[in-house]
Amino acid sequence: MNRLIFRLVLFGALILLIGGMGLLYHLPLDTLNPSPQQPIPFSHQLHAGNYQIDCRYCHRHVERSTAAGVPDVALCRSCHEHIATESPTIKQLAKYWQTGETIPWIRIHQLPDHVYFPHMMHIRAKVACSYCHGEVSTMTQVQRVASLNMGWCLNCHRENQAGIDCWTCHI
Ligand code: HEC
Ligand code: HEC
Ligand code: HEC
Ligand code: HEC
Ligand code: HEC
Repeated sequence: MNRLIFRLVLFGALILLIGGMGLLYHLPLDTLNPSPQQPIPFSHQLHAGNYQIDCRYCHRHVERSTAAGVPDVALCRSCHEHIATESPTIKQLAKYWQTGETIPWIRIHQLPDHVYFPHMMHIRAKVACSYCHGEVSTMTQVQRVASLNMGWCLNCHRENQAGIDCWTCHI
């Protein structure tokens, strides 16, 4: 009798574990707006598409650090002190470098704190930005295209023999 109860409990625990993992696999825990309107209407289509400015020129840390980094207003200024200075949006931009304020860009991709995501490991493994971010150079407003949920990470890690132990990504 005791054995039966033990088995039932074990079976229940297993179902819960598998069900729980299945849920985690697909649960979109990310509640950020996938394409928010930014304080300055910065267009990737214009800068990275038409003018072919390299992603790494602005997202400078992507090859060396965990975070790709978003450029500060000094980089915008280096061009826009001379380019399109009469445009109302550039006048709005100029206010930021005049007052020394940082532009309050709204994050579009953001994992919870307990997940470790190193950009540089993926760049070294030659995963293209577009695999995870879509064709950003055609976007006038950045749109998140990947779910960024755990199953999405794990599927690709399995296919590429990258780490799938819990502590690979959870520290
Ligand atoms: C390497 C040079 C360069 C850098 C750096 C740069 N831009 Fe631009 N930007 C351009 C060019 C070229 C245009 C197109 C201007 C035109 O069509 O007259 C442009 C256009 C724009 C426009 C549209 C202006 C309009 O109304 O026509 C905005 C807004 C803008 N940039 C914002 C930014 C912001 C914000 C940054 C910093 C994150 C930035 N740019 C960095 C070169 C640059
Ligand atoms: C001229 C500078 C510039 C260039 C070139 C540029 N970016 Fe950006 N990027 C920005 C700025 C500024 C933001 C923040 C505003 C926004 O989200 O549009 C940003 C935001 C992003 C985001 C969203 C960040 C978040 O909040 O999650 C991604 C992804 C991204 N860029 C990828 C790329 C890729 C891929 C390329 C090359 C195809 C590229 N960028 C080229 C300046 C640039
Ligand atoms: C394997 C998937 C993957 C690849 C490849 C990738 N990214 Fe990301 N990117 C992410 C994830 C996931 C986040 C959110 C990270 C976080 O919140 O810790 C992110 C965040 C960002 C951000 C937000 C700000 C920051 O500092 O991290 C930018 C900008 C960005 N990526 C640009 C790029 C560019 C440019 C490339 C190519 C050179 C690239 N990414 C390649 C998955 C990827
Ligand atoms: C497009 C496929 C792909 C996606 C999607 C992806 N990764 Fe990776 N990841 C890789 C590859 C390939 C490596 C490099 C493995 C190596 O160098 O041995 C890697 C390496 C890593 C590493 C370093 C540890 C290791 O195994 O070498 C961590 C941590 C990591 N990824 C976390 C994540 C997280 C978190 C996500 C989801 C937000 C994610 N990855 C999404 C392909 C991917
Ligand atoms: C390749 C990277 C990766 C590996 C390996 C991984 N996880 Fe995750 N995990 C993630 C990401 C990314 C999220 C956040 C998902 C989201 O926000 O949608 C997450 C979320 C979670 C959560 C949810 C926490 C919350 O935000 O509420 C739990 C619990 C969890 N993982 C447990 C595990 C366990 C247990 C393992 C080992 C069997 C594991 N993870 C292996 C990437 C990974």
